[in-house]
Amino acid sequence: MIFKFYFKSFTLIVLFFSTLCVAQNTDILSEHTSFTSKNCTACHTAKDGDSGKLIIQGDELCFKCHEDVKQKVKNSINKHGAMEMGGCLGCHNPHTSKNVSLLKEEDSKTICLTCHSSQLPRDEDGKMLMNIGEHLINNPDAHGPIMWGDCAACHDPHGSDNLRMLKKPFPKKSSITFKADNYVCFECHEPKKMTQRYTKEFTEFRNGDKNAHYLHVNQKRISCKVCHDYHASKDLPHHIKDETTFGPAKFPLRYIGSPDGGSCNPICHTRRYYNQVKPVNVRTNK
Ligand code: HEC
Ligand code: HEC
Ligand code: HEC
Ligand code: HEC
Ligand code: HEC
Ligand code: HEC
Ligand code: HEC
Repeated sequence: MIFKFYFKSFTLIVLFFSTLCVAQNTDILSEHTSFTSKNCTACHTAKDGDSGKLIIQGDELCFKCHEDVKQKVKNSINKHGAMEMGGCLGCHNPHTSKNVSLLKEEDSKTICLTCHSSQLPRDEDGKMLMNIGEHLINNPDAHGPIMWGDCAACHDPHGSDNLRMLKKPFPKKSSITFKADNYVCFECHEPKKMTQRYTKEFTEFRNGDKNAHYLHVNQKRISCKVCHDYHASKDLPHHIKDETTFGPAKFPLRYIGSPDGGSCNPICHTRRYYNQVKPVNVRTNK
């Protein structure tokens, strides 16, 4: 039916085929220009690369040109087990890809979850890592970057000196003196959320203009992970955890959201309220 329609007019046929060509070109989102410009000998022995024989085997071929990645893979404090499992070609195509960064799959998340949908032991201490795939199934409210498929927004898949191969630091402890540079979070979020004692602008976690992020994170030195799950959460809004840990203690936050604020009742204090519009008196809870 569709074809009959196109064959009616020559112009339409031309249009049809040129659209096909465009569609084919946009199929390639990233490439090695040495491949597309037919400089096959940058990597292969035969000039036209017909044999596919390589001048150097394994990751060393890639390291020839990617010195920065080589440094990360070889010298990072936190190395990535993925390098021993499939090396560069476990995640990248060598020639072209219909995805960004020559990736084999449509986004980094799809790649990461091929391995991180089970518990893996850490190289450094043998401790078991979370099963992220299962965590995301059980917690459907995924944090922004994960929602759009980008685990590499926070993690460096090639390895890094920071905790858990993060691109920027993040505190290991639940309690620590606040410094914005210690949190990968401020790559995207505004640090003034934590540093302005009074604000009506930078955060909604406030009682009137009294900034409750400032109180908890800055004054009481509590890290984000005590209240938020930066991968994904389940029942509560704002990626707030149902249950948390603080030192050896494990307890629920019992957060309840309200139109202009919320309240919680962890083991740290009795139920306390915050309201952005009508500030609540902390002594009377009214
Ligand atoms: C940046 C390095 C690089 C360049 C440039 C390159 N190749 Fe390759 N090519 C590779 C690697 C690495 C493999 C091995 C892939 C594997 O084992 O999965 C490969 C595999 C091949 C194969 C084996 C079959 C396949 O597709 O896996 C052929 C054929 C091939 N290349 C042809 C070419 C031709 C022709 C050119 C130039 C137009 C070229 N290559 C340019 C890195 C390169
Ligand atoms: C001959 C030098 C050379 C070799 C060998 C080489 N690359 Fe590259 N690579 C480049 C250059 C140059 C770029 C920048 C894009 C371009 O112009 O090709 C690049 C870009 C990339 C990118 C980013 C692509 C993007 O669109 O962001 C990835 C990923 C990559 N290379 C992976 C590899 C892997 C994996 C290997 C080994 C199989 C490899 N490279 C081997 C030169 C090389
Ligand atoms: C576990 C999967 C994985 C492995 C293994 C891997 N990469 Fe990547 N690589 C990625 C992802 C994901 C990106 C996109 C990073 C981003 O968006 O910041 C990337 C990006 C890149 C880039 C683009 C610029 C940059 O530095 O971020 C280069 C070059 C690259 N990889 C080279 C390599 C080489 C060389 C190897 C082997 C030593 C390798 N990769 C192994 C997942 C991987
Ligand atoms: C080929 C399998 C494989 C893929 C794909 C993979 N990983 Fe891993 N990853 C591992 C293994 C195995 C470990 C445990 C060994 C170790 O400590 O690195 C690990 C460890 C980690 C760790 C903990 C590292 C540490 O030192 O504490 C993080 C974080 C991580 N991966 C993130 C990612 C992200 C993000 C991606 C996608 C860009 C990804 N992984 C893709 C196999 C993989
Ligand atoms: C918004 C930033 C961010 C994004 C995006 C992100 N992570 Fe993480 N991830 C973290 C932080 C922060 C930690 C360190 C947590 C800690 O130990 O306190 C972490 C820890 C991990 C760990 C180690 C967990 C453990 O048991 O110690 C793995 C594995 C991991 N992430 C994989 C992933 C995968 C896979 C994705 C994509 C689906 C992803 N991450 C996306 C911030 C992020
Ligand atoms: C790559 C950018 C990026 C990074 C890095 C990042 N975030 Fe986010 N974050 C977002 C986006 C986009 C949203 C909005 C979508 C959503 O609610 O998940 C968001 C939303 C949030 C929310 C919920 C807002 C609400 O009221 O619903 C919290 C809480 C949060 N982030 C905490 C963190 C923490 C903690 C970190 C550091 C571990 C972090 N973010 C790092 C991009 C980022
Ligand atoms: C004591 C618990 C607690 C801690 C610790 C905490 N938050 Fe929050 N955060 C909240 C609550 C509650 C909200 C929801 C505010 C609202 O919209 O009602 C929130 C909201 C957010 C939002 C949404 C925008 C906003 O500010 O209203 C972001 C982003 C965020 N937090 C990031 C962080 C980061 C990054 C850290 C660590 C540096 C952190 N939070 C530490 C409880 C906490």
